[in-house]
Amino acid sequence: MLVNSKEMLLEAKRGHYAVPHFNINNLEWTKYILEEMQEMGKPVILGVSEGASKYMGGWNAVSSMVQGLLKDLKITIPVCLHVDHGSSFETCQQAIDAGFTSVMIDASRHPLEENIAITKQVVDYAHAKGVTVEAEIGHIGGTEDNITSSATNARLDECLELVQKTGIDSLAPALGSVHGLYKGEPNLDFQTMKEISEHLEIPLVLHGGTGIPDFQIKEAISCGINKININTELQIAWHQCVKEFVEKNDAYDPRKVIGSGEKAIKDKVKEKTTLFMNLS
Ligand code: 13P
Repeated sequence: MLVNSKEMLLEAKRGHYAVPHFNINNLEWTKYILEEMQEMGKPVILGVSEGASKYMGGWNAVSSMVQGLLKDLKITIPVCLHVDHGSSFETCQQAIDAGFTSVMIDASRHPLEENIAITKQVVDYAHAKGVTVEAEIGHIGGTEDNITSSATNARLDECLELVQKTGIDSLAPALGSVHGLYKGEPNLDFQTMKEISEHLEIPLVLHGGTGIPDFQIKEAISCGINKININTELQIAWHQCVKEFVEKNDAYDPRKVIGSGEKAIKDKVKEKTTLFMNLS
């Protein structure tokens, strides 16, 4: 069932756990994640970056693909189809018009006033259509979609102002996490994370979930994180298996090549969901 992120994240806030957000790259990726999450009977957020959307043909293609899979695979868990790091109002508008149920507007590269203005424009459009909105403040560094940027941490007063002036449904404050791989151990500002969470009613989002050790993930959840984004870690798990398969087999059927990473993706999805939702 395609839903927005409102209920699943509020439930996570009440239950002190995090809903997994997994980025999708193609049909197979999406199918494997949906099948595993259906098996586990837990809600999931499918994140689609602008680059991944372009790769798959566009927002309409992705939306139709996901809706088709939900029907054909008889998926009954709540599934949220979410834009990851939408860079403009127009991007979010196109995805919403194509059937996305949630968007992240990432105007964090702009000064606060401008971030607020762009985010508010997205909220007005999205909420009128029952679509939820996540925004970013500070700036999450690292590499995503081949774009590398440096990090700036979020400040409590700016978080409060952004939330109060826009009416967003969830907030991603940059607090030391980065997209892609970390150099050394991640250095997350748990103190500020806890303070922000205590001052806000809405759920907090942790980006850059790849490479954060389990004990830090648990600490982040205890400081108020209710959604955790994972992209690179699934790609690495998939790549390890596919590389081995290609080296050992003279396979040319794409179904066999891509499909050789199915178990790796499913195992990683299960491992992360178990950790994020305290299921062990
Ligand atoms: P990773 O690629 O580090 O897992 O981050 C994913 C993410 O935050 C997507 O927005």
